[in-house]
Amino acid sequence: MTTPFRYEDGEMRVGGVPLARLAAEHGTPLYVYHRPTIGARLEEVRRAFGAHPTTICYSVKANSNLRLLKWLAGHGVGFDVVSGGEIARTAACGVTPDRVVFAGVGKTRAELEAGVEAGLWMINVESVDEALVLAEIAERADAPVRISLRINPDVDPGTHRHIATGRGADKFGIAPSEYRTLLPWLAGHPALRVVGLHMHLGSQITDPAPYGRGFDVLLDCGREARAAGLEPRWMNAGGGFGIAYDGGDAPPPAAYAAELLPRAREFGAELLLELGRYLVGPAGCLLTEVQYRKTRGGRELVIADAGMTDLLRPALYEAVHRILPVLEADPADFRPTDVAGPICESTDFLGRERPLPPLGRGDLLAILDAGAYGMSMASHYNTHPRPAEVWVDEAGAVEVIRRRETIADLLAVELESLSAG
Ligand SMILES: Cc1ncc(COP(=O)(O)O)c(C=O)c1O
Repeated sequence: MTTPFRYEDGEMRVGGVPLARLAAEHGTPLYVYHRPTIGARLEEVRRAFGAHPTTICYSVKANSNLRLLKWLAGHGVGFDVVSGGEIARTAACGVTPDRVVFAGVGKTRAELEAGVEAGLWMINVESVDEALVLAEIAERADAPVRISLRINPDVDPGTHRHIATGRGADKFGIAPSEYRTLLPWLAGHPALRVVGLHMHLGSQITDPAPYGRGFDVLLDCGREARAAGLEPRWMNAGGGFGIAYDGGDAPPPAAYAAELLPRAREFGAELLLELGRYLVGPAGCLLTEVQYRKTRGGRELVIADAGMTDLLRPALYEAVHRILPVLEADPADFRPTDVAGPICESTDFLGRERPLPPLGRGDLLAILDAGAYGMSMASHYNTHPRPAEVWVDEAGAVEVIRRRETIADLLAVELESLSAG
């Protein structure tokens, strides 16, 4: 599926709306999302998994905007959360707790208590220690707490090392050997009920084969659970379906389904998926305005008004996003250009050696595929307010779904302590 950000009549538009107009009306840096793209990608995943009982839990961390969550809830998805804060986000959108799966390698006791009290669908347990803490909490609860065990299957998903999570040495999940020691205790536990097993191999995975290998490990664990008298009904394959950041092709959801469905059927399991990036990544772009230009090392360098505080991925893990001029330009004029941000860090780059036309003050750039892990990873470093977010809906109407922060917003929490001191 191609990007919804396309050149029409010499300028980049989304859903027919010129990005230059959005920049003029809402300022920059600005996150722009195309809602129909999210809906189409959701449908594509649903089609791929067909009639097999499959629950798609949107991974809130990918983009946790409340309007987006509410819209997704209205489209029948469940939610994968990883903190008390994300539980609160789903609750604020009216999501019923029975649609929320609670993952995370380091949930605090307070967060586990919040999850139990809320009556979430299931809590994905990631260590023997966490199981013990949860058992203490569960013993005081009115009903058994539904848990799923996150197994670390020791599978290399072939993605960037910083976003691989299911290799044996990664910090996530329970090793199969630990799981085996835990099983007899769990089988007899009155307050914990194992309803599923979970894996999450990593993110931006563009080879479906590791899903099959990981799922084989998961289903072996499932068979052992059955032998111990447990009934793991849901097999959670995690998230991680990759997108084509280079504008080429990424495997369609059907390719992942081909790995997972036969195995799930054979085991007799319902499927759970925790997708983030695949659903929202290509639907968003970060719109930024060039502030200054200079040459460095014989190369063009532009300083944009967006930087690592707005889109951390390039600085954090060398992620490569396409950067395109909003005004269509002749590729014959393109030259390798570095695009940096305003932040006082040498790593504050949005892209290096990008083919871009000559740029100057006020020119607009669109950083594509920024709908996932863009705004949700944004920070206030250098006391920069975070960008506004707008979306374009199915009718081409534009709506602000998060207003631009002000400096007053940022100072408010600290001003409390100033006035107290
Ligand atoms: C446990 C878990 N599930 C799902 C996801 C979503 O991954 P993605 O956005 O790549 O689909 C993540 C991302 O880090 C995760 O940690």
